[in-house]
Amino acid sequence: MTKNDTFLKDVNAGLTNSPKFLSSHYFYDKAGDELFQQIMNMPEYYLTNSELEIFRDQSEEIIASLNLDKNVEFELIELGAGDGAKTQHLLKALRENNYNFKFIPVDISQNSLDVISGRFENLFPNLEIDPKQGDYFQVLDQLFLSDKPKVILFIGSNLGNMEDQIATNFLEKIAQHLKHGEKLILGVDLKKSAEIVLPAYHDAAGITRDFNLNLLKRMNRELDADFNLELFEHAPEYTEEEGIAKSYLKSTIKQEVHVKELNKTFHFEKDELIHTEISRKYDDKILGSILNNSGLKISSKFLDTKKYFADYILTKK
Ligand code: AVI
Repeated sequence: MTKNDTFLKDVNAGLTNSPKFLSSHYFYDKAGDELFQQIMNMPEYYLTNSELEIFRDQSEEIIASLNLDKNVEFELIELGAGDGAKTQHLLKALRENNYNFKFIPVDISQNSLDVISGRFENLFPNLEIDPKQGDYFQVLDQLFLSDKPKVILFIGSNLGNMEDQIATNFLEKIAQHLKHGEKLILGVDLKKSAEIVLPAYHDAAGITRDFNLNLLKRMNRELDADFNLELFEHAPEYTEEEGIAKSYLKSTIKQEVHVKELNKTFHFEKDELIHTEISRKYDDKILGSILNNSGLKISSKFLDTKKYFADYILTKK
């Protein structure tokens, strides 16, 4: 199946379903990547700065909690590497303390890998960098071919975009590859009041709205659909009780949308929703139940000064 066949199949399944849904996976085309970069710089999107602060101020402590042997080379594997702004602090501290490691960034976007590799080659001469392009669910097996000790870095609250059961399966899969005592650094957003969380997904400048609507643009362009972007609005929701930010696209009128590549018309009632994303917020209890039988246990936790975000150190039992 080509990439477009999978998109077509997922759109057909999602828009036929009641309630309608589309995977947030499809946000990230070139325009979506750029919009996400803008989201990370928005004043309301506290997640990036909170986690950056943790890595800027506590990298030494994070490294101490990893119990690494300076005489043995290990592989630092970053899943979903992004622009490397946070990781840079960790690498700097590892180098200053003479740890012996190779850096393996993994990302779906070759462009992101080129940017991060270029940046780190300049900043850290002689650091061995071995980028791997692909969806981290799919390339996971290939990452564990060598016998070297591993540290996995999975930050940015990317876990939060997975349903709990998928998150459990994913962490289980990572754990199966790790040896006893090896570690995963997991960055997640913490459960907190709607006053703080909701604006991060409903910013005043409308960047998150454009990010969500970009999914419709993408279907128009790639699947020859005729979504009128004026007739859908960005509708995010969050309650502290549930702890999951949810994004929807809401049809503002009763309408029909045709997707030419599917040769199919989809009907929307006024106010009907397409569910496009979840962003789960965590605490120790929620993470504990997600880890359940995964073979990983929480061994340390690092917070920013506002206690908005956490980087957990998970150890293979
Ligand atoms: C990539 N991910 C962690 C972001 C989040 O916060 O769930 C994606 C995002 N969606 C809307 N704004 C940001």
